Amino acid sequence: MNAIDLIIQKRNGGALSREEISFLVKGYTDGSIPDYQMAAFMMASFLQGLSESEMVSLTETMLHSGEVLDLSEIPGIKVDKHSTGGVGDKISIVLAPLVAACGVKVPMISGRGLGHTGGTLDKLESIPGFQTTVSTAVYRKQLAEIGVVMIGQTKDIAPADKKMYALRDATGTVEYIPFIAASILSKKLAEGADALVLDVKCGSGAMMQSEQDARVLAETMTRLAESFGTPTTAFLTDMNNPLGHATGNWPEIVECIDCLHGNGPDDVMEVTIALAVEMLLAGKVASSQEEAKELCNSAISSGRAFEKFVEMVEVQGGSAQAIRDPASRNENRVEVVVHASQSGVIKWIDSRDIGRASVVLGAGRATKEDSVDPLAGIILTVKPGDTVQIGESIALIQASTNAHIERTIPVMMAAFKFDEETPKEGSRLLSKYQNGRWVNP
Ligand code: URA
Repeated sequence: MNAIDLIIQKRNGGALSREEISFLVKGYTDGSIPDYQMAAFMMASFLQGLSESEMVSLTETMLHSGEVLDLSEIPGIKVDKHSTGGVGDKISIVLAPLVAACGVKVPMISGRGLGHTGGTLDKLESIPGFQTTVSTAVYRKQLAEIGVVMIGQTKDIAPADKKMYALRDATGTVEYIPFIAASILSKKLAEGADALVLDVKCGSGAMMQSEQDARVLAETMTRLAESFGTPTTAFLTDMNNPLGHATGNWPEIVECIDCLHGNGPDDVMEVTIALAVEMLLAGKVASSQEEAKELCNSAISSGRAFEKFVEMVEVQGGSAQAIRDPASRNENRVEVVVHASQSGVIKWIDSRDIGRASVVLGAGRATKEDSVDPLAGIILTVKPGDTVQIGESIALIQASTNAHIERTIPVMMAAFKFDEETPKEGSRLLSKYQNGRWVNP
């Protein structure tokens, strides 16, 4: 086989076989196919399109380019969730211990933040001592013993994706839906879960800005995961406004603690419970939505969900004391109150601007090499629909030092869009894709 022939075949609109795709991906991963040939193949695929079977072959080769975990010796159905990422998206940190407290094991491998969206790992690592790098043996042991583990991607999982993603980033081929689906699922399917629940976000703070693109991504990922034998449900959720009040690292952990105590913001809880219900059904510990909701409510009100979080934090080396008494860290950080520059009704708080402000503050990273400030974050004290008067407090900015706070304020202020009328309150849950069709969530 020859890479040039395959590139020409794809460039001319032909279809490649499983063996041909595997030859390209394996060759690129082991270095025998150079960047420029893989880049040409990617652009040809982007412009001519990949068929369903080409996408499956691509995913399969990427998935098997590294370690594929087999968790079958651990009893029970293991269920994971993946979010395509959004501003203030802290759902995983509430959801994983909640679902584990209800009896379904959750093996979760998450990523770091890049650009306007934050990353679950950066948030977890803002807990003093919390370790997100563990061996596969420890990952299995923790999952078997306490039912939940949240770690970062190891270099052994889907190494082809790491190399291909960097090349896509440099060649304008990131936004192609089959590439996104193959990239996400090559990593997710490697972690050994038996079923998946996806949270595909759309709107200004999401990877997919348009609802139509987000629907296609949700359908594609669901079909793709199911073609590998992993039952999958996808939710489409609104990411125009930041989720909850807090965006950032430790401030989001504090909000997660509130959620686990039953005092979380309505929008965070709405999405968390919807995803949790689906995970409990997939894990077969509940046989109806009502029963699953009951299990969730009881795990929260009894304190079991919070205690499961504390247990996970302790096992992963984190400070349980910081989780039990988050205010004890307040003296280590600075806090600035931001005031409204005009009066009116808040129509919309553009999550992309809040995400950008969070990067300026140091809570997120502009490039992969940047480090993040664990204590940094923005806490919105108003929500869309609130009426504010000029000079009233609308947000708090927190950080380890005040080095970046002045620069953050104008970026954050641009997010606030005012109106004269109160906007209609909408649900975050737009739709659900299951068994090949969209249904009410
Ligand atoms: N996240 C991924 O892991 N891959 C993509 O291609 C896009 C988002």
